[in-house]
Amino acid sequence: MPVSTHDASAGARFAALTEDLGILYGGDYNLEQWTPDTWREDARLMREAGVNLVTVGVFSWARYEPRPGVRDFAWLDEVLDLLHAHGVAVDLATPTASPPAWLGHRYPETLPVDADGVRLVAGSRNHFSPASRVYREHALAITAALVERYVDHPAVRMWHVGNEFGQVCYGDESAREFRRWLRERYGTVERLNEAWGTTFWSQRYDDWDEVLPPRRMPYHPNPTQALDFRRYSSDQLLALYRDQRDLIRAHDAERPVTTNFMGFFPLVDYWSWADDLDVVADDAYPDPGDPDAPADTALTQDLMRSLGRGRPWVLMEQAVGAVSWRDHNLPKPPARSRLESLQAVARGADGVCFFQWRASRAGAERFHSAMLPHAGPDTRVHAGVRRLGADLRLLRPVVGARVPADVALLFDWESWWAAHELARPTTRLDTLAQLRAWYRPLWEAGVTADVVRPGDDLDGYAVVLVPQTYLLQHDAADRLTAAAERGASVVVGPFTGVADRDAHVRTGRFPGPLRELLRVSGEEWVPLPDDGTPLAIDTRAWPSAASVATSVDGAARATTFGEMLRSEGATVLARFAGGHLDGLPAITRTAAGAGHAWYVGTVPTAPVLARVVEDALAAAGAAPVLPGVRAVAGLEAVRRGDALFLLNHSAADVRVPLPAPATDLLTGAPVDGEAHVPATGALVLIERQP
Ligand code: GLA
Repeated sequence: MPVSTHDASAGARFAALTEDLGILYGGDYNLEQWTPDTWREDARLMREAGVNLVTVGVFSWARYEPRPGVRDFAWLDEVLDLLHAHGVAVDLATPTASPPAWLGHRYPETLPVDADGVRLVAGSRNHFSPASRVYREHALAITAALVERYVDHPAVRMWHVGNEFGQVCYGDESAREFRRWLRERYGTVERLNEAWGTTFWSQRYDDWDEVLPPRRMPYHPNPTQALDFRRYSSDQLLALYRDQRDLIRAHDAERPVTTNFMGFFPLVDYWSWADDLDVVADDAYPDPGDPDAPADTALTQDLMRSLGRGRPWVLMEQAVGAVSWRDHNLPKPPARSRLESLQAVARGADGVCFFQWRASRAGAERFHSAMLPHAGPDTRVHAGVRRLGADLRLLRPVVGARVPADVALLFDWESWWAAHELARPTTRLDTLAQLRAWYRPLWEAGVTADVVRPGDDLDGYAVVLVPQTYLLQHDAADRLTAAAERGASVVVGPFTGVADRDAHVRTGRFPGPLRELLRVSGEEWVPLPDDGTPLAIDTRAWPSAASVATSVDGAARATTFGEMLRSEGATVLARFAGGHLDGLPAITRTAAGAGHAWYVGTVPTAPVLARVVEDALAAAGAAPVLPGVRAVAGLEAVRRGDALFLLNHSAADVRVPLPAPATDLLTGAPVDGEAHVPATGALVLIERQP
């Protein structure tokens, strides 16, 4: 089991860097693809664009170690000196994400095996098994050589371990490691049998050696086996990260060490990783064609800040224009790229970087956009890059500042995993889609949320939202109850608290651990027909939902999933009208201590959910950062330290009244009475004494 190595110096290491450099600005620099002449041109252009940090060496292993026992770093010496001379700092990566072809050729056991038993080969990247001892030895050896050589180089200011950890392997060595992990967790094979419920389908194990990863099977795998394999795979990757991090730390106590996360990445539990990073870093590639991207991105950014316990984080990679890995890659105009970068800063980022600095001419990512496109510096993309560099310099006053949040939104990787194993009431109830739907009204109202892990301390939050959380332990439920009792609004979504830590379904009426708090209980899960079921809103009990209830367009509906519920003292706000659940409660509210608790036992349409969330905010006195922002579609408002960020994601200019005179940090201009935020534009306002 991972043990937290969190210590206060983690944040201090990163803060020392940004105190010196300001907001970090740059990108991946895959310099092994270029000649010394190009390096010189790049260093000059970087300086001119305000770039102050580049990530170097992520994919350089084959260049460092072209054949076993032969190492060549001389070329890197030259570039690091050059970058340093131009005032560009280096985030030096361990090159372990992409081993040289000779490693897999000589040691096939280093290559990963998929669930079908197919051994994957070199020729792409990520071709290693996290469980391979030989891979780990070679990864540590090249890391040691790199760190020893560059630990005193003045250009190196940060360390970057590997790249986007996410590999999974089902091979024999992984099976051995999985069994080792299981022994640590369960001690005896009897306890494993209990946890996995192996009396079902005669799955009982008599000996550890019989236990395997969930490889291809004739029919549905055991859900707890599948869940444990996900837990193990995440821990195995963390062990790999830690090996390299510890090696770096043994040589360098000062500089921050990180790796790049991937938002709500399904294969790694970032809650269990985050304390091992000196600064949380994220790679984000929102689709320019997705109208929900601004809100979904804000949620991911709130997650990143929350993983780092509120400390600044780094947007380590994003695309300045189009990516090349979707089927159809829409471009991103420079104004949008700027807006997305400012959004990250608003939500706590002290670094805004891209993949990558210079566009590759060859290889799988030759059509991925870059800060310096194939067409060169005389382009709209590169002009945008220079402008953003200048903007970020102006935002230096927000470096290190915190983003206050009144709302906590529960999210848990283990629950997500368990809820998505095969064979369940419906595959349409999607944990992440629910989380996003519940976040949306907060984003629209200009109310900031932290993402919290079930069981985390909830003190200080006025509102706690618990979208569908399938696995919920009693201690986490107790914290929710305590939060309501001291005055918070707690809102709980469907299919929550269904299962325990082993993913076994709890017996008795659900939601077991929250039944008393919510004063409602259920007995059947009921997926709804494709067109859903109307909701009858009781406008006397729920007057604030009257406009939704009476709208002619059928705005009040239950979709996807319902539950057969009965109130045990809660006020019924809305009932199913028709279908299998006709007349039964769908949404309830009850007083709970000094606070209130809502239960939403379905997937309501967005206007209904928005009413619930807004009522919960109002009941606990959680106000938007800027009154009036709710009325302006596409306008995002976030407070960070003393600064109020207004980000206009819409295609129309918008105006919003301001409570006090302010100055825009980006222009230096006074803004009085009303803020005018141009389409795809942003203002960063600091209050001014009149
Ligand atoms: C990821 C990787 C990069 C690059 C980009 C763009 O974020 O870390 O190496 O592949 O995607 O596709």
